[in-house]
Amino acid sequence: MASPRSKCMVLGVTGGIAAYKSCELVRLAIKSGLDVRVVMTKSAAEFVSPLTFRTLSGNPVSLDMFEEPAQWDIEHVSLAQRADVLVVAPATANIIGKMASGIADDLLTSTILACRSPKVIAPAMNTAMWENPITQRNIETLKSVGFTVLRTEKGLLACGDVGYGRMIAPDLIFQYVLRALRSTDDWRGVRCLVTAGPTREPIDPVRFVGNRSSGKMGYAIATELWQRGADVVLVTGPVSLPHPEGIKTIRVETTEEMLNACQTHFDESDISVFAAAPADFTPAVVADSKIKKGGGSSLTLELVENPDISATLCKSKRPDQIAVGFAAETDDLIANAMAKLERKGLDMIVANDITAEGAGFEVDTNIATLIHKDGQQERLGLMSKSDLARLIVDRIWSMRRPSPGREECHCRE
Ligand code: PMT
Repeated sequence: MASPRSKCMVLGVTGGIAAYKSCELVRLAIKSGLDVRVVMTKSAAEFVSPLTFRTLSGNPVSLDMFEEPAQWDIEHVSLAQRADVLVVAPATANIIGKMASGIADDLLTSTILACRSPKVIAPAMNTAMWENPITQRNIETLKSVGFTVLRTEKGLLACGDVGYGRMIAPDLIFQYVLRALRSTDDWRGVRCLVTAGPTREPIDPVRFVGNRSSGKMGYAIATELWQRGADVVLVTGPVSLPHPEGIKTIRVETTEEMLNACQTHFDESDISVFAAAPADFTPAVVADSKIKKGGGSSLTLELVENPDISATLCKSKRPDQIAVGFAAETDDLIANAMAKLERKGLDMIVANDITAEGAGFEVDTNIATLIHKDGQQERLGLMSKSDLARLIVDRIWSMRRPSPGREECHCRE
């Protein structure tokens, strides 16, 4: 039986110093099992040798160096058809202008124009060129026809200027490549709200009540949803994870702040996943200055209950909305989780026994039982938080009610 064809990334490299960073992009793509085809412009080949890309990709590199257009006339069509995703990195102001104007005067621009697959553009240029209204207008034109044009980073540029215009890191570009390859029309326009991480309830200006949540579980779910093509808002407590590329991220400190941020986005979301570990209690009084120790005396903190975010929001949940919670338990896992599912008005709860080795807080893995509203249970073994996120998102998808007119219907239950 013939093995399934690997997905193909066609990478256009144009002439900029950032071309060297695209070598890493090729490496990441190859590592993920993609078939990589590189097309270089003549000026790109001045910065990095085609041999480098040939060696890294394991495929011949196509060059825009021919005098006779006849030589690339057919190739651009075959490359365009082969591409499951077309990436231009780095994309100079010149190629952005050409793409926006529909110019096809060399192999790369012809391939781009002939390609129907998703396109990801990673600009790199001098700050003045980046900020020029002509460039910005061209970028808007590309976005309006469905190109994904990535941001640039601020920093020291090769020309000595400091400002925006640096190409973002290859691993970030690759996140968008994966999203372009994995996203389906099913998930396009689906709005998701995800909570992650702990909250911190201040005792005084330096101390807080908190917990050990690292945010890994929530970030994995947000990333999985985003990579499938959904629009994701992530509300996160203080964590030390990198900002998830492409995801609207709202940072909060306390449970009350997390509730306020979620309230702003809950109505407009189709799916909510409450993976955060918000503090259930907060100090009744917050001291204005640092509480001093002295003479071995004890300190009593009075704690009052915080609002329950998921329970509060789910009171106004519409029938077409799906809400998934987590239950972090130390005993009576299933019974406690089922009680929470009911009390909070959730559609599914992910029960994790946080005392089990490899499960719960901080670690990269988890062990969970998925419990549905109808009582159906699915017991899962030890797996990475990203694999669990994939499974949870699959189950969420199968729970979705067909909702024709989802856009229009904002009526409450
Ligand atoms: O962040 P990690 O280090 O990756 O760890 C992952 C995790 C253990 C935090 C995660 O898997 C998890 O179990 N999250 C829920 C933790 C928790 O607060 O559990 P709970 O049983 O106290 O809460 C039940 C549900 O209510 C949760 O969906 C929680 O987000 C929500 N909740 C809790 C308290 C509160 N005030 N408002 C809420 O909405």
